[in-house]
Amino acid sequence: MSNPINQYNQLDPAIEARVEALLQQMTLAEKVGQLVQITPSTMPDPDQLTELLAKIGSGEVSMDALFQPRPDLAELIRSGSIGSLLNLANPEQINQFQCIAVEESRLGIPLIVGSDVIHGFRTIFPIPLAEACTWNPDLLEQASRVAATEAAAAGIDWIFAPMVDNSRDPRWGRVAEGSGEDVFLGGAMAQARVRGFQTAVLPGGRNIAACPKHYVGYGASEAGRDYNSTELTERTLRELHFPPFAAAFAAGAGSVMSAFNDISGVPASANPFTLKTVLREEWQWPGVVLSDFGAIAELVPHGVAADLKAAARLAILAGVDMDMMNDAYAPHLAELVAEGSVPEAVVDESVRRVLRLKLGLGLFERPFTDETLLDQTILSDEARQLALEVAQQSIVLLKNEGDLLPLPTSQRLAVIGPLAAARRDMLGMWTLFGKEEDAETVLEGIARYVADATYAAGCSLTGQEGVEETAVLAAIDQADVVVLVVGEGANMSGEARSRARPGLPGQQQALADLVAQTGKPLIVVLMGGRPLIVPRLLEQADAVVMAWHGGICAGRAVADIVFGTVNPSGKLTMSWPRHEGQIPVYYSHKSTGRPMTGEGVPQFGEPFKSRYIDLPNEPQFPFGFGRSYTTFEYADLVVETAVLPINGTLAVSATVRNSGTRAGSEVVQLYIRDLVGSVTRPVKELKGFQRITLQPGEAQQVRFELPVAQLAFWDAHMQYRVEPGEFQVWIGSDSASGLVGSFAVV
Ligand code: NOJ
Repeated sequence: MSNPINQYNQLDPAIEARVEALLQQMTLAEKVGQLVQITPSTMPDPDQLTELLAKIGSGEVSMDALFQPRPDLAELIRSGSIGSLLNLANPEQINQFQCIAVEESRLGIPLIVGSDVIHGFRTIFPIPLAEACTWNPDLLEQASRVAATEAAAAGIDWIFAPMVDNSRDPRWGRVAEGSGEDVFLGGAMAQARVRGFQTAVLPGGRNIAACPKHYVGYGASEAGRDYNSTELTERTLRELHFPPFAAAFAAGAGSVMSAFNDISGVPASANPFTLKTVLREEWQWPGVVLSDFGAIAELVPHGVAADLKAAARLAILAGVDMDMMNDAYAPHLAELVAEGSVPEAVVDESVRRVLRLKLGLGLFERPFTDETLLDQTILSDEARQLALEVAQQSIVLLKNEGDLLPLPTSQRLAVIGPLAAARRDMLGMWTLFGKEEDAETVLEGIARYVADATYAAGCSLTGQEGVEETAVLAAIDQADVVVLVVGEGANMSGEARSRARPGLPGQQQALADLVAQTGKPLIVVLMGGRPLIVPRLLEQADAVVMAWHGGICAGRAVADIVFGTVNPSGKLTMSWPRHEGQIPVYYSHKSTGRPMTGEGVPQFGEPFKSRYIDLPNEPQFPFGFGRSYTTFEYADLVVETAVLPINGTLAVSATVRNSGTRAGSEVVQLYIRDLVGSVTRPVKELKGFQRITLQPGEAQQVRFELPVAQLAFWDAHMQYRVEPGEFQVWIGSDSASGLVGSFAVV
């Protein structure tokens, strides 16, 4: 059951009138207060912090130990000096703070409580990259609705998600938080997530606002190193990085988070082009821009501001409305206004946006959370079931030689590897409120099917100490087949988790070598927050299942796939490199003047063309790729109209047949290529997809309708338009295959 979508970026005259009335009554200090967001806690000092983190890691104390309430918090709220709190989820505590805001502050403006709920609140779903591999926006919408419902019961109003940054670089740890490399798929997933958050039926009639992030270009961080600079042309921004935000806004998002990175020299959190020209003037978007954590203060180390005061000035003038943990606006904004370097009208405009969001959310009418709701809301049976379904659909079968999978339960099984019994790691990165005890391990999942599997961890996840050879060989000795569960731990992807060598950490490859030497049939269950570069392992294994970090139901979902209760249907949303040297490798690249597929230019007796002399150009697995236990045949591509007017709609279909012996789901993908443009165009662009389920022998005609308007791009004069001409169109199973046809736009 769901509400209509709450829109937080439409101007409602009744709300606007209330905003103006409030603004009239506010002092400058109170205005600035509305633009300040802080955590309610002080961080422990560094010595204490290390000790605490170790205890949290070992499960000795909970995350709550990190949060020691700021002694001055009540007074800050009472005096109207802050407008928002972040990353707390305790309804009693939130109500206490809210009570001070509503009842003891001069104007009674409620606080808005924001938090990172990235792939579930307590019911932890697979990491977002995995969720995207379902190619199932409806499922993601439902998952986001569950996350929002649970978060609202905890007192949260504002979710710092979805992360809609596209990225073509798996070295960047935050690819785990996004939907992958593609602009079209990314937009569809962004919309699904915003819809899910903003349509939730929430306890006590409360609402949730989404906050897409990180505006903008963050996914292009050079060399995949987090927080690094980006070099982005206006064309690349417009073609690749703006669209998922536009999609999220079209779904009703009324806030956005400004990014850490600089964009060709101008930091994203002080960027008049992206924040004003595009957001405000072109898109006329009236929502709130919230800085990322410390992104205003970081204008100083970026080297564009000499101090915090100068940083505050740059950020507010560029259009950053709210300061998340910078300590820049609170101490400096009023002074900047007093001395005339920031017009008060600029501050007013930012305050309007914040009040608009608070009023839109209904916080003035319903400032409090029903404290009894949390326990009965979290981890419902339906939520768990949904988490299982998402996990099952997110798993990508990469290899299955000799149809080794699915396994019959009669086989004697050895389960090896440091992730086989790992629990916390199943949750993945960014799970502030998830609990280890909620998660099922792979070993437990397997035990649902076979009772007597032998097990050895074999080595630690990251340590350099050797492989436990005796234990591993003993575990394998009597087995018919080995399931090797290896990959990255949860804390190896996500923020500040860039990896120059995103392969198997520690001694895990040595472990794989040992297992492979035994010659037993080998199934690898790979886990991680990114495509992992593991060519040797892929060679050694007979079957490979990419299970990502699958959330609380990860273990069961893996077992359901391994034993065939569920036929795999996930498809990659990032090209999977063979080698770090190929990065960035992505399907929608340009042709170049000397394309790999062409003749090249003969020089010194060989064709000179755009390729490596020591590696293929193609990735290990292409975007859109994923196997099934059945096979799908594509036939009869029909382009219904070969010549289309500029206002027409392309209709194209193909027949997909399940030619195997099991029922299965297939993600049917539509790609196009614009053959001649005023600027170079990608060799393929995803323009549609449909997930279908077919019984053995069943065939279905899959038809796509694509309005010609959706072939528009930014032309040589930076006009967004469709250029008439010839196009190719593919319907296929991934970005590297498919039936091809053509059409023309006149
Ligand atoms: C920094 C991260 O970049 C952002 O995604 C997150 O929402 C904030 N911290 C708040 O925790």
